[in-house]
Amino acid sequence: MSSTVNAVVNLDLEGPVINRHVYGHFAEHLGRCIYGGFYVGEDSDIPNEGGIRLDVVEALRALDIPNLRWPGGCFADEYHWRDGIGPKEDRPVMVNTHWGGVEENNHFGTHEFMALCELLGTEPYISGNVGSGTVQEMSEWVEYLTRDGDSPAVRERKANGREEPWSVKYWGLGNETWGCGGNMTAEQYALEARRYATYCRDYGDNKLYRIAAGASDFSYGWTETLMKQLSHLGCQRVERPLYQAVSVHYYTVAGTWADKGSATEFTDAEYYTTMAKAARTDELLTGHANVMDLYDPKKEIGIVLDEWGTWWNVEPGTNPGFLYQQNTMRDALVASLHFDIFHRHADRLVMANIAQTVNVLQAMILTDPDSGALVLTPTYHVFRMNKGHQDAASLQVHVVGGAPVKDVDGAELATVSVSASRKDGRLLVSLSNLDAGEAADVEIDLRGGVVAGLESEILTAGTLHSHNTPEAPEAVAPRAHDGARIEGGRLLVHLPAHSFVTVAGDVA
Ligand code: AHR
Repeated sequence: MSSTVNAVVNLDLEGPVINRHVYGHFAEHLGRCIYGGFYVGEDSDIPNEGGIRLDVVEALRALDIPNLRWPGGCFADEYHWRDGIGPKEDRPVMVNTHWGGVEENNHFGTHEFMALCELLGTEPYISGNVGSGTVQEMSEWVEYLTRDGDSPAVRERKANGREEPWSVKYWGLGNETWGCGGNMTAEQYALEARRYATYCRDYGDNKLYRIAAGASDFSYGWTETLMKQLSHLGCQRVERPLYQAVSVHYYTVAGTWADKGSATEFTDAEYYTTMAKAARTDELLTGHANVMDLYDPKKEIGIVLDEWGTWWNVEPGTNPGFLYQQNTMRDALVASLHFDIFHRHADRLVMANIAQTVNVLQAMILTDPDSGALVLTPTYHVFRMNKGHQDAASLQVHVVGGAPVKDVDGAELATVSVSASRKDGRLLVSLSNLDAGEAADVEIDLRGGVVAGLESEILTAGTLHSHNTPEAPEAVAPRAHDGARIEGGRLLVHLPAHSFVTVAGDVA
């Protein structure tokens, strides 16, 4: 059985540009994300440059990752950046109290992170310490990184081997300050954010884009408090708002926080609950944007969803503090659904960061702790197949007559999700069939242009539980799709059960 979905896309009615930064990433000092993931040290047998794993770099370069958030997460608010500069043998050891209580030798610090960004060709997004740091410490980190000339922090940087300042735009003012970042109230943090933002200076051409630590999930009151603070700057001489964006975190947790469910063993009912929770990202972004519209109708302040993704119980036998989980076809569909939602919110959403890039939560890459083998996850393939949407103009997809829906725990889940964009004369359409067992056909009336030279790829697998391992690295891998064609100005696409398809073509 299959259902048919009819839709219209006006190729000549371009919507807001999809900021490439919604395809952003996140690397925290957590479990094996940095150590054993990105960074193996210079003495490792694994090919590396300055300790950075080159196979990880190569895999991520294929995704054109636009930014990388670091060093946390919760870790950011107990990280003191001066512990991570200078000769490695002199760097102090600290305890990573949030994540397994392990000892952190600080061998991966500021210079190593900036080198990683250069190898990846990506922009750094640094998350500063508000929870246990000081305004002075954060201010000097900005100076160390971005100032040219001769000042104490600049001399320190030069003594550590870096003559030129780096360019750093994205700067986080703490993380989850309602919880691990200091357990503050919204009012308390909003005042702190103003103070910290004041002393994170713009040096020379380096203009910071300051991101205030935002709400958890649907806590719209937190966003409202941050927006109110911006509208009461209290100083006529301030030319720009003190912060340019507010963040929000939303994880797809199908079970409870105490028992989130297995990454690889789940029933159909648990699968649909997962998809319904992921679909709530639309409600989340709409809700926060509605609050922001009251204070900022011109949409000058952005939303940064700087942590999103699935969160399952850790893989049996692994350290509970390391958040290591497998990644199946289900995770891939969670990712593709998120991207459709992100594309629809291009007017306000300026950045999103999946948590996290390597070996933690909904990762792109898993590395084996013993053999070092690297595996690309199903989620990785969604990022690769969708990268053409980065900086493309969004195109609205008007579904005519309704899409098939499932009743999931009393809520309606549309089981076919589509988004489209246009860039440099090229159309890209992404289509997800979330139905576990039934195929779907999508017919899109393409108006305002002629599309030719179709290329289509599909990501699907034997079951929703399918995943990649060192023994079977391509159990879930994209392949060419012969189920897409143009007929009489209509794009006809066949979607097998639980599949993700992209279709690209030239627009004339
Ligand atoms: O991504 C794991 C953790 O989740 C982050 O450190 C924290 O910000 C969030 O609670």
